[in-house]
Amino acid sequence: IPVDPFDLVIFGGTGDLARRKILPGLYRRFWAGQMPEDARIVGCSRHEMSDDEYREEVRGAIQEFAIEGKEDAEKVDAFLEIISFVAVDATGDKGWKELAKKVRDEVVNAFYFSVGPSLFGDLAERLHKYKMAGQDTRIVVEKPFGHDLKSAQDLNATLRKYFAEEQIYRIDHYLGKETVQNLMAVRFGNVLFEPLWNALYVDHIQITVAETVGVGGRGSYYDKSGAMRDMVQNHLMQLLCLIAMEPPHHFEPDAVRDEKLKVIRALDPVQPEDLVRGQYEGDDKVASYFDDVEDPGSITESFIAMKLHISNWRWKGTPIYVRTGKRLKARASEIAVVFKHPPHSIFGEKANERRGNVLVIRLQPNEGMNLRVTIKEPGPGGMRLIEVPLDMSFADALGPDAGDVADAYERLIMDVIRGNQTLFMRGDEVEAAWAWADPIIASWEESGERPKSYAPGSTGPEEALMLLYREGRRWRDVKA
Ligand code: BG6
Repeated sequence: IPVDPFDLVIFGGTGDLARRKILPGLYRRFWAGQMPEDARIVGCSRHEMSDDEYREEVRGAIQEFAIEGKEDAEKVDAFLEIISFVAVDATGDKGWKELAKKVRDEVVNAFYFSVGPSLFGDLAERLHKYKMAGQDTRIVVEKPFGHDLKSAQDLNATLRKYFAEEQIYRIDHYLGKETVQNLMAVRFGNVLFEPLWNALYVDHIQITVAETVGVGGRGSYYDKSGAMRDMVQNHLMQLLCLIAMEPPHHFEPDAVRDEKLKVIRALDPVQPEDLVRGQYEGDDKVASYFDDVEDPGSITESFIAMKLHISNWRWKGTPIYVRTGKRLKARASEIAVVFKHPPHSIFGEKANERRGNVLVIRLQPNEGMNLRVTIKEPGPGGMRLIEVPLDMSFADALGPDAGDVADAYERLIMDVIRGNQTLFMRGDEVEAAWAWADPIIASWEESGERPKSYAPGSTGPEEALMLLYREGRRWRDVKA
């Protein structure tokens, strides 16, 4: 179903995110027929460029990142017709009047701030000054949303000078991933899981977001952030919230975000012995972290593993282990809910040694779910128990088109146009996540301790394995 007519302005329209994600994503929605006929997209950046020159850039981006069987030249041409370009100076007055003329009053107006946060204030102020900050205007901002609690509060205050919270869409692209939303559908659309979804029945939860890439090319940004700021404070925190939150009374933006906020606020401070930081080494094929960031003295982490506790009635006593890192063995992300063993085994002690049920929610690749259950081994060999997966990969269950799920960005941008904030972070959520992360980061800065090194292509430092071994548990072998 097409969304309402809109004008979408992309500040940073020639930048990396626009080229890789935003513009190809918009094209895919156009291709799928979801874009209304009179939608307009305006790219903005500092440097002068004609509409046609910009369109050629966009064409290149589509060819590189969006095609996958959608190489329909006519469609691409039609899409390029709705695109134009204006050179604006974010900190000056150049181009703003021209932009204001392009943006129509009668349609939804959305402004994507695909630029560094230091420009958010300037852009917001000028949208206001040039009368583009109407009541129904929406602005979209990217992470990193601040560097710590103080800077996040400042950013929120700056944006709120000109825009109400209902107009601010803070993107965490993990919330746009298909399986992440499915997590809510599975938890709250079935009666099967929720009665067991608590410390009485869940032994522990594992959240893994593993990447094979290093930080090369983004070293100067990454070295100031590290895995904690780059991944944990936002993406992993959001996954944790969705897995642990109470059922919202309605699938509606503030109801969902209220529940997520309660989870963050119930997180205990992390004890030093429950946390492992790592940094990748190099080998004959790939550069080390030091080489990637060009600083042999860097103590920034490219890997982190932690044991977390949520102090509330539902989760008291159930550890939640999270880990994320670069240059690991596989690009694979999943959440595993590991249930307790049956309280008594009628099949004898040995049978009870079997591991309990595990529900695995795979984020990428090969999105889907998998529930490990115990059954009798078929055949006449007596009552021998085995574990089998009840597997539901979306591609298998829903046919080949299920593999063509919308990319996180295209879904989220369409939600902006629809005016649906459910999958966007509210200001207080972001601040609460920083309030939790700040003391942890401060303690590293104080101690100056080096992260443990780990081999590229491994599962991270040995110490991360010990986090679970010492408690008689083990990380799952997460495969691509
Ligand atoms: C970004 C981080 O937010 O997410 C990157 O800045 C990371 O460091 C990326 O690589 C991972 O996203 P995805 O969708 O590829 O899992």
